[in-house]
Order: sequence, then C-alpha cells, then structure tokens
Amino acid sequence: MSWRQHLRASLDALSVYDVPPSTAPSRMHANECAEPWPAEVREALAEVVRGELEFNRYPDTSGRTLRHVLAQRHGCEPRQVVIGNGSDEVISMLLTALSQTKPSEQPGAGGHLVIPTPTFVMYAHCAAVLGVPVVEVPLDARFELDEPAMRAALGPQEGSGSERGAAICFLARPNNPTSSLWSRQVVQDLIADFPDTVFVIDEAYTAYAPGESFWGAWEGPPPDNYVHMATLSKVGLAALRVGYCVAHPDLALALDKVRHPYNVSQTSIALAETVLTRFADVQDQLVAKTIANRGRLVTLLGSVPEAEVFPAHANFVLVRLPSTARALALRATLAEAGVLIKDLTKTPALAGCVRVSVGTDGDLDRLEAALGRG
Ligand SMILES: Cc1ncc(COP(=O)(O)O)c(C=O)c1O
Repeated sequence: MSWRQHLRASLDALSVYDVPPSTAPSRMHANECAEPWPAEVREALAEVVRGELEFNRYPDTSGRTLRHVLAQRHGCEPRQVVIGNGSDEVISMLLTALSQTKPSEQPGAGGHLVIPTPTFVMYAHCAAVLGVPVVEVPLDARFELDEPAMRAALGPQEGSGSERGAAICFLARPNNPTSSLWSRQVVQDLIADFPDTVFVIDEAYTAYAPGESFWGAWEGPPPDNYVHMATLSKVGLAALRVGYCVAHPDLALALDKVRHPYNVSQTSIALAETVLTRFADVQDQLVAKTIANRGRLVTLLGSVPEAEVFPAHANFVLVRLPSTARALALRATLAEAGVLIKDLTKTPALAGCVRVSVGTDGDLDRLEAALGRG
C-alpha cells in the first residue's frame, strides 16, 4: 500500500501534454502567430513592466480591468467575462462547473461531454482528469460535423445511468487540427435544439476567418446555453497565457466560484490590456500578414507530390500524404532544414497527416528551399 492507491484512476490512461522547447529557426508546429511585434510595441510593453507593475502586490482577484476591456470589445457586461490562464484553464473551469463528482449530489445527473473528433486534445484530456464521460463524434470525410450523429450524441446515452443529455459540447470553429470551419447553420440549429446543453464555441482561431465569429451574430440576446471562448495565444500573445470566455451571468458566476483567485498574473493582465487598448491595429496587421502568408503556404504544400491540402481557415494547414512513412519523411526533411511541423499520423482519422502553422516570410523561404524549389 502507498499513497499511490489514492491517485485518480483516470490518470493512468493519460499522458502529459508536453512540447519540448525548441530553438529551431522556423517553428511551424504550435499554431502561434509567427509575426514579430514591432520594436515600438515591445518598448511600450517593457515600459509597462518597468514603470507600472507593483511586484510586491497581488493582482486583482479576477482581472477586473482586463475584463472591462474585453467586455467593451464584446458589448457585454463585465460580469459575463471570465479570464483564465490560457483558455486551457477556462476549459477546465467549464468542465468542473458542469460536472457532478458524486451522482448523489443530483440523482440522475452526470451529463456527459460531446466533442467532434479529431479536435483540440485538451477537451477530452480535462474531462478524463475530472471523470466526465466523453462521447466522441467522428467528423465526416470533409472534416464537417456529422449532424445526425451529433444529435444522437447530445441526447441521453443508453446504459449511462443518466436520463439527461449532454452537459456540455465544445465546438472549435475553426477547428484544430483540421483548420475546417464547419457549417454555421448546423451549429446554430444544435444550440437551439439542445437548450439543456452548454455549447462552447471555441474561437481560438476566428481572427483568421474574418466575418465568421459567432459572437454578435445573434438576432437579439444570445441563447443562454451559448458560451463564446477565445484566447490571446493565437494572435501574438501566447507567452502571456490569457484566455477568456463570455457566458450567461449565471454560468459566469458558477465559473467564478471554480476559478482560483489571482489566476492570471498582473504582468499578463497589464500587457494584454496595453495591446488591446493601444496596439489593436498592430495586432490586426500581424493577423492580416499571417492570412496573406497562409495563401503562400497552401501553394507551397500543394506542390509536394501527392499531397492533399485541406481548406485552411485558421493559422495552420492540414496536409495528407499517401502514407504515414511519407508524412514522417517530409517532417524529417523539414526538421533537418530547421523547419518544425506537427506530426499527426497517430491521431485517429489523420493517418498520413501533418499540420503546418503559417510562418513569416523568412520561415516560408526556408520551407520553400527545403522542399527543393527555393
Ligand atoms: C482550439 C483551441 N482552443 C484552445 C486552445 C488553448 O489555447 P490557450 O490555452 O493557449 O489559450 C488551443 C491551443 O492550441 C486550441 O487549439
């Protein structure tokens, strides 16, 4: 006997989410925004750290000032905005708030999580840690939602012991790792037809699909089972670890009870606020340049013999090679040239696939040279 007997049994099947640090010249494997911030922005951020930060004081418990800035952006009440240490933390808060640890707390409860697959791995990972049952619904061959299968998954599940349907459903739009942008209508219909399920529309990459945001797209107030989730990580600020969601005030209150106080550092709060209030135009330019470079990346990848390049709506592109061996060979060739890409060959339904994040002009020159056409 040892303390090990007390470890959550669900951890056994999980692996650590780990990405080894790299100094490769072209890191095109992590869906970051590769465009560098101009010197004047970096200088302004340094000034904030030098002049304004009180290192000896706690930050605000809930990042009030940043929440106000975000609320203004979204035209909502600040109490609807909950910030997290990256949206990873928001995912965890949502699953914690919407799951039952003991069925006796609410007899017949214990709603499950529904996710289409493949999708962002942290949804299922966090659910597994917490013991929330997960129902996965494979995407169709075009990486579009399988609507009938989604509807079946969202209802009560036979043999689950619960008469309730899904508690929560995460829909990343655009989706990671497929870069697909599934039908707006299908998503809207699901949200309307399953009012007892919380739908989290994860807009981590929506900046790269202009005009596609769900936020603000509703006629009248958004449905109370709809949550908008976003992050600053994909738009130039991955180092800060700032994610957030906008939810109905009742759900936001529940999340705030789950959230650790002071969960986002004052450094991150202050730097995020500075960018959002003073340099939003520069941020838009970084995103616009990335969208332009995505076109070149798609063309380059399309020139790889027998590569199938899927439509890309995020800041990365999914490519399928005829075999896993060919995909791994491409990855190795590029790595040798200092270009890192993501191997997805072991992901179910993605045999032969790699994911390539959009790089700077210099990254794309390096990629082009490595592909033998520089
Ligand atoms: C779809 C999606 N959502 C959320 C996240 C988490 O982002 P972060 O925790 O950096 O805010 C990622 C990261 O890759 C993602 O791909």
